Amino acid sequence: MSLKRKKITVVGAGFVGATAAHWAAAKELGDVCLIDIIEGMPQGKALDLMQASPVEGFDAAIIGTNDYKDTADSDVVIITAGLPRKPGMSRDDLLFKNTEIVKAVTEKIAKYSPNAFLIIVSNPLDAMVYVAHKVSGFPTNRVMGMAGVLDAARFRTFIAMELNVSVEDVTAFVLGGHGDTMVPLPRYSTVAGIPLPDLMPPEKIEALVERTRNGGAEIVNLLKTGSAFFAPSASAVSMAESILKDKKRIMPCAAYCDKEYGVGGYFVGVPVKLGAGGVEQVIEISLLPEEKAAFQKSVDAVKSLVQKINL
Ligand code: NAI
Ligand code: 2OP
Repeated sequence: MSLKRKKITVVGAGFVGATAAHWAAAKELGDVCLIDIIEGMPQGKALDLMQASPVEGFDAAIIGTNDYKDTADSDVVIITAGLPRKPGMSRDDLLFKNTEIVKAVTEKIAKYSPNAFLIIVSNPLDAMVYVAHKVSGFPTNRVMGMAGVLDAARFRTFIAMELNVSVEDVTAFVLGGHGDTMVPLPRYSTVAGIPLPDLMPPEKIEALVERTRNGGAEIVNLLKTGSAFFAPSASAVSMAESILKDKKRIMPCAAYCDKEYGVGGYFVGVPVKLGAGGVEQVIEISLLPEEKAAFQKSVDAVKSLVQKINL
């Protein structure tokens, strides 16, 4: 039995990456390695975060680096490296640029941490998980993407705000890819076990669903210079926590589905059991015809994105 602390590497020390390092250290999930291509920046952020530890009272070694040797033997690697979309850039421009970045970092991570679990955050998410899987050659239980936890958290927040109840009692269920075609499922979303359709009229539910679909864009429009990072980083770290502590939480993640939901070999958002074995199970639920159609549309969007990548 090893009593050593776990090791979490976060690739990309920008807004999402640095905040993920913060959550992981503050939760004492293990020691944290923050890596970026920009010299000095991950080192500075790591030192700053270390100096927060006596104030907040957490024990975790946090290092910043530009050298992949320092990432060696990580248990979990969260990949946030990549560009956010800039004015004048098409989705395809982002796809090709971030494919290069995710490919390059995954190759180095796989070399130094061949047994790690990979949690991908970089966008376009469902395609980047595919890239990380293909490049690492890791088994599908060890490669997954974060989007559903964030999308569900947005839906939960909007439901709690609307009903003026604690977020703790709200659960929400989201399927499909991360983007305009995501599929929030109100009948599987509850407040203290009460299904949402029993608590709100359909037009109100539809308005919250629409706000959830546009949740990322709403924040981009407010920030103007970047995208959301507090909730995305917290979501990725909650997935890491479930793996590192073998919690076996059921979370919506971009997971590999072949026969599951009839997807045919792509990574899409589905409910999974996350534990010490990574993605231990993809949970299949029966869908109503209109839900099935919406999910299929989302899967088709993921497929057409992935098919543009030459790997
Ligand atoms: P950011 O621009 O603040 O940080 C990205 C970092 O990646 C930068 O520090 C940059 O230097 C670094 N980087 C670029 N190339 C690299 C390389 N080859 N090796 C190591 N580091 C490299 O961006 P932010 O806000 O942190 O977002 C990161 C990514 O996460 C973006 O692609 C964004 O679209 C995505 N995202 C995904 C979400 C999701 O739900 N899946 C939610 C929020 C963001
Ligand atoms: C979000 O949903 C940009 O994908 C990111 O906030």
